Amino acid sequence: MDSAPLHPADQLDRVLKSLQETRKYRFVSPSLVQAIASDELAKGRTLKETIKETKSKLHQSAAVYIRQNLDYDHALQRLREAVSTNQSEDGACAHEYRHSARPLLRRFMAAHTSTFERLTCLDRFYQEIFGRLPPICSVLDIACGLHPLARPWMPLPPDRPYFAFDIFADQIDFLNRYFRVMGYEGEAVQCNVLEEMHAPAADLAFLLKTLPCLEQIEAGAGRRLLHAIDAPLLVVSFPNHSLGGRKKGMAQHYAAFFDDITAGSGWQVESLTYPSEEVYIVRK
Ligand SMILES: C[S@@+](CC[C@H](N)C(=O)[O-])C[C@H]1O[C@@H](n2cnc3c(N)ncnc32)[C@H](O)[C@@H]1O
Repeated sequence: MDSAPLHPADQLDRVLKSLQETRKYRFVSPSLVQAIASDELAKGRTLKETIKETKSKLHQSAAVYIRQNLDYDHALQRLREAVSTNQSEDGACAHEYRHSARPLLRRFMAAHTSTFERLTCLDRFYQEIFGRLPPICSVLDIACGLHPLARPWMPLPPDRPYFAFDIFADQIDFLNRYFRVMGYEGEAVQCNVLEEMHAPAADLAFLLKTLPCLEQIEAGAGRRLLHAIDAPLLVVSFPNHSLGGRKKGMAQHYAAFFDDITAGSGWQVESLTYPSEEVYIVRK
C-alpha cells in the first residue's frame, strides 16, 4: 500500500475510503477524518500509519464513548408508539406525552457513556442549572452525543430552537427524527466543530464533557471555541473520573485547565458538582 508515492489529495482519499469501509468509522464526518489524516501525513507518516493513527484519534475522542450501537429505526419506532399512545388528538396532553417518553429515552441515553453517567442525576441536573439562568430562548449543543435526548428534563419550552452538532451522520439523522417525533423545534447537524460549525447565535451553549475530546485533536481548541461561540451563557463540563471509574485527581486537573483557558476573560464562572461531572456555568 505504501510503495507507490501518491499525491497528498489521493492519500487523503485513500484514508477516507479505508475508514468508510469500517463499521465503526463509516459515518464519521469526512472533514474530520481528512483533518486528522492530513496532520498525520504532514508528520511524515506512511499511509498505513496514518490510517492507524486516524482510527486511534477517532476512537479516543469519539467512538470510545459508544457503549452500545442503537438500532435507530427500532428506537424511533418504539418512541413513536410511546408518544402516540399518550397523545390526544387536539395536542392537549403534549406535556404528558413528552413526559411518558422519559423511561425509553433513559434507555437510549444509556447507549452513550456521557449520557449514561448522567442518568442518576438527570432529575436535578437541568433544574439546578436552568434555575440559575434567565429564561432561555435558544440552545446550542456542541459535540452533543445523545445529550439532546435529555430535552424532556430541561425546563425549556418545545418551540425553543435547539441546535446540536456532532460527527456521526447516523446519530445526527436519528436526533433529527427524534426532534420531529417529540414535536421539538430542533436541528442536528453533522460537522467537525473544530472547522465547519456554522452555529447561529443562541442564548446558551452546552459543551458537556467535550473539551478534553477536542483538545486531543487540536491543542488549544477549548479556549478558541469558548471565545468563538456566539452565546452569552455557556454550560461547560468535565469528567470527574476516568472511563474506567478511577478518580485520579481528574476534577483538579480539569479545574486547573478550565482556569487556564478562561484566564483574563473577565467572565463570571459558577461551578456545580455532580456524580457524572463538574459543571461550570459561564456568563460571558
Ligand atoms: C465525551 S462525549 C460528550 C457527549 C455529550 N456532550 C454529553 O456530554 O452527553 C464527546 C462527544 O464529542 C464528539 N466529538 C468528538 N470530536 C468532535 C468534533 N471534532 N466535532 C464534533 N463532535 C466531536 C464525539 O462524537 C462525542 O459525542
